[in-house]
Amino acid sequence: MVSKKMREIVEQAVKELAVSRGEAELIVASLLEKPRFEIYLNDSIDQESRQFLRAKLMQLKNGMPLEYVTKRMQFMNYSLRILPGVFIPRFETEYFIELIEKLIDFVPEQILDIGTGTGAISIALAHLYPDVHIVATDISDKAIRCARENIKEYGLTDRIQLLQCSICNGVNTRFDLIISNPPYIPSSRLHSLPKSVRDFEPMLAIDGGQDGIQFIKLIIEQTAPYLNPGGIVALEIDEDTVVTIKEFLQTNGCDQFSFRRDQFGKYRYLFIGELKNEKSRNIN
Ligand SMILES: C[S@@+](CC[C@H](N)C(=O)[O-])C[C@H]1O[C@@H](n2cnc3c(N)ncnc32)[C@H](O)[C@@H]1O
Repeated sequence: MVSKKMREIVEQAVKELAVSRGEAELIVASLLEKPRFEIYLNDSIDQESRQFLRAKLMQLKNGMPLEYVTKRMQFMNYSLRILPGVFIPRFETEYFIELIEKLIDFVPEQILDIGTGTGAISIALAHLYPDVHIVATDISDKAIRCARENIKEYGLTDRIQLLQCSICNGVNTRFDLIISNPPYIPSSRLHSLPKSVRDFEPMLAIDGGQDGIQFIKLIIEQTAPYLNPGGIVALEIDEDTVVTIKEFLQTNGCDQFSFRRDQFGKYRYLFIGELKNEKSRNIN
């Protein structure tokens, strides 16, 4: 039997969120943590569940990202817990992991993940390299708590060590791969970000300072003593900062680097160090 009450809730979602019926069904399904086909199956939706759904729909109507409303999100094959106040991993970072696999010529034994957020990068890399040991840092208490839950859920507590610190303060190991998706939006562009980002995501995770490369410079400078010979530094960046980064690297005597494009054609990644020989070269 098709639930009339559920139909009303889906209709409310269509109206209030200005989405299609299919999208509304998907939203309701993810709020209920059920597959879409199950939402109409049961007519016994009680008062409490209706109130719960209405409250969640109001949060969405106010612009809160679905990930913060459901407190879960998908990163590659991984279902992650996410807390409001922790950066929501993006598709570009999924592609970053694919590039790492494609471009790095060796199997890293030690990885440093700076600004781990939900722990998404570390969890994906721990699966990609089953013997690797990872140190994941973040300055945010909320991020560390969220990453801890996800790492535990995936049974990776022995292989991913979390450290609440700035960049790599207190780290005392050397690494083959140092990776980060740092805050990289130039401060002057923060106002032009979508409202859902400005109002709900932590600026601590996004604001890259006046030129957008404040953290990129700090990461490159501060991690230099912790990179093994032949190691790679891989950073997510903003396309508008490519020229400034290039000048910074050249001024500091670094000439082995390249910028790579994301799946949408934008220069999004900086690799420092020797990569696998590829036919399609990007700029450097
Ligand atoms: C763009 S988010 C990336 C999060 C995660 N790595 C991802 O890709 O989804 C940047 C992260 O850097 C953290 N962060 C900001 N400043 C930091 C610092 N000085 N040291 C370490 N982490 C920092 C933020 O808390 C945030 O979790």
